[in-house]
Formats: sequence, C-alpha cells, structure tokens
Amino acid sequence: MMSLGATKNICACSPKQTARLGHAVGLALYQGPLIGVAYPATVRLATIFHRQPSPCTRSFTTTPAHQLRDVFPRKDTPFVRKTPPAWKHPGYTEEELLSVTPGHRPPQGVGDWVAWKLVRLARWATDLATGIKRDQQVDMKNPTTSLAAEKPLTEAQWLIRLIFLESIAGVPGMVGGMLRHLHSLRRLKRDNGWIETLLEESYNERMHLLTLMTISEPGWFMKTMILGAQGVFFNAVFLSYLISPRITHRFVGYLEEEAVHTYTRLIREIEQGALPKWSDPAFEAPEIAVTYWKLPEGKRTMRDLFLYIRADEAVHRGVNHTLSNLKQKEDPNPFVSEYKAGQEGHKPNAALKPEGYEREEVIGVESLPSGPSPKPYLHHA
Ligand SMILES: [Fe+2]
Ligand SMILES: [Fe+2]
Repeated sequence: MMSLGATKNICACSPKQTARLGHAVGLALYQGPLIGVAYPATVRLATIFHRQPSPCTRSFTTTPAHQLRDVFPRKDTPFVRKTPPAWKHPGYTEEELLSVTPGHRPPQGVGDWVAWKLVRLARWATDLATGIKRDQQVDMKNPTTSLAAEKPLTEAQWLIRLIFLESIAGVPGMVGGMLRHLHSLRRLKRDNGWIETLLEESYNERMHLLTLMTISEPGWFMKTMILGAQGVFFNAVFLSYLISPRITHRFVGYLEEEAVHTYTRLIREIEQGALPKWSDPAFEAPEIAVTYWKLPEGKRTMRDLFLYIRADEAVHRGVNHTLSNLKQKEDPNPFVSEYKAGQEGHKPNAALKPEGYEREEVIGVESLPSGPSPKPYLHHA
C-alpha cells in the first residue's frame, strides 16, 4: 500500500476521491483555530487515505524506491557561492550521541494530561497515515519507550513518517519565539533568553526536514496533508501559546518524546539490517547534513545522520519539558544563562534528562524573591 512508485497515475484517482480529499482539507482548514481539532483533522485525512486503495496512495512521494536521493539538485547561481546556516550547530561528542534514550515524563495535573492525550492522538493518526500494521506496532502500553516490534517499517513508511513529523515539528518553536518577541516589544520588557532557543529549535527542525527532502520528494497527497496540517497546527499552537505557554511547552515536550522514540527505533532497525538501503555504509548522508552537523569523515552513514537528529530531538524534549516547569514571564532560560560562581552544577544539559529539569534544580527557588522580579535576572536579552 505504501509503495514508492512514480505517480504518473495521479489522475487514476477518481473525481469522487479527489472531491473527498478536497472536502477533508477544507474541513481541516475551516476548523483551524482550535487546539483540540488539530489532530482530528489530520485523522480525517489519514482515514480517507487509509480507505483508498492503490494507486491513489502512491502519491505520498514521487521518488521511486530505487532512486531515493538527489531529487533536489543544487541550483547554481552566478555570484553566490553558498549560504551558511544562521545558527551553527553546536555538535555532539560520540558519547552524547550514544547516550540518548527514549523516556517519558508522567503527566502531572490536567494540563499535562491534555497535552499527553493530544500527542497520543497525533501518534495514532500518524500510525494510521503511515499504514502501520498491527505486527509493526511496538507495545502500546509503553509507546514512547518500547522499541521491539514483530516487523520493521519499510523505508517508504519511514520517509512518510519522518517528513510529516518534521514538517509539523518546525512550527511550535517559531510560534513561541514570535509571540515572546512580540510580547517583549509590546510590553517593553526583556525576554531573558527564551526567544533565541525557540527560534533555533524551529530552524533545527527545518534542517531535519530539508535533509530528508534531499532523500525523497513528497507526492501531491503528502504535500496536501502537510498544507492542511500546517494550516490547522499553526493556528492551534498560536492560540494555545497565547492561552497557556506552559501547557504548549509540555505538549512539545511530549511530541519530542515521540521524535526520540521514532529515531531510536529507526536506528535500531538500521543496525539490525532491516532497511537494506539505509543499512548500506555506501549510502552516505546528503551534503546539506554533512555541512550542517559537520559530520566527520567516516561518520556519514544514515545511522550516523539519524544519531545526530535523535540527539537534537532529545535536546528539544529536555528544553521544552524544562521550560514548561518555569515561570513563563519571569524566569530566565537556564540553557543559555550564565550561572553564579559555585552554582555551575545547576547548569542543565537538556539531552540528559528526558523528563526535563524541575524549576528548583535550575533556577533555585529558595534564593528568589516572592512575586514577579522587578529586574531581569541575567544579562541575556
Ligand atoms: Fe526533528
Ligand atoms: Fe524536535
């Protein structure tokens, strides 16, 4: 069902099918500004996809399975040689790459519970859209930590899953950063270092997407799903961040738990040789990835690439769970702050703590005055 065949038969979809797809997208966009409907709309699309027999389903990607790269050849320009990344990647040690593990922060309170359930719904919809069969499922009692399944996913299923997830994952950081930026301008107040981290997160997620796009080009159905999902998801996150940034960061933290789980399972299946193309050491990471992550010579296999992406997701997970634990309007961003002499032990490393840091671990509630602080704690903007 998920074959990567070329889609010259796009027109093979009947007018009725096309009408149903259009109707689904219309519904998705119409119901935009409500957080609770973001994923049901995706589910609608997914359900329609699920019911459609081939060949309509082939339109997830236009790249044939035997040609999973170089679909976007680099465009040459008369004067410009290259455009370096705005945010240079900090890089990881081998130890850091290998120490990432799937994890889960148990929900505490109603807000956490709602965020967690929304992510569960999103995972269910993604599984449905990816055409995951029962024997490809992991133990759903521990959905973000268990990795073993009877059967692996195919490379085509992985690509669909990853591209869709990354196109969604780049939204919240940009929305959060934008709203905090506007808040700072409007209220004439410093932000204490949150904006840059949030914008960098969305930039990093887009680099994940661009990297995957050099391996496979999505078909019209996938592009429609991305369009519909972004129309809904952007509005949902926008409203949600205005209403409760704390719950929104928790939601992103749970989303990133899924991302770490997804990439860990993928790496495991590559190591087991279950994905012949990506397990082949001759299939190297694309140039955009080599440049961005500064992948060292001899460490450019697809496994290496996914280790780097997984470490990024682990950072997002720790950052968002931690930010959710802080006072949104007054606390500094501990991940970019300098600590007082003797307090460096509290400096957080986001990737190390899947459940994030509690406020007292990184801010030190004992030493803080009660009520809003009249001044920013640190020098960061
Ligand atoms: Fe990502
Ligand atoms: Fe992420």
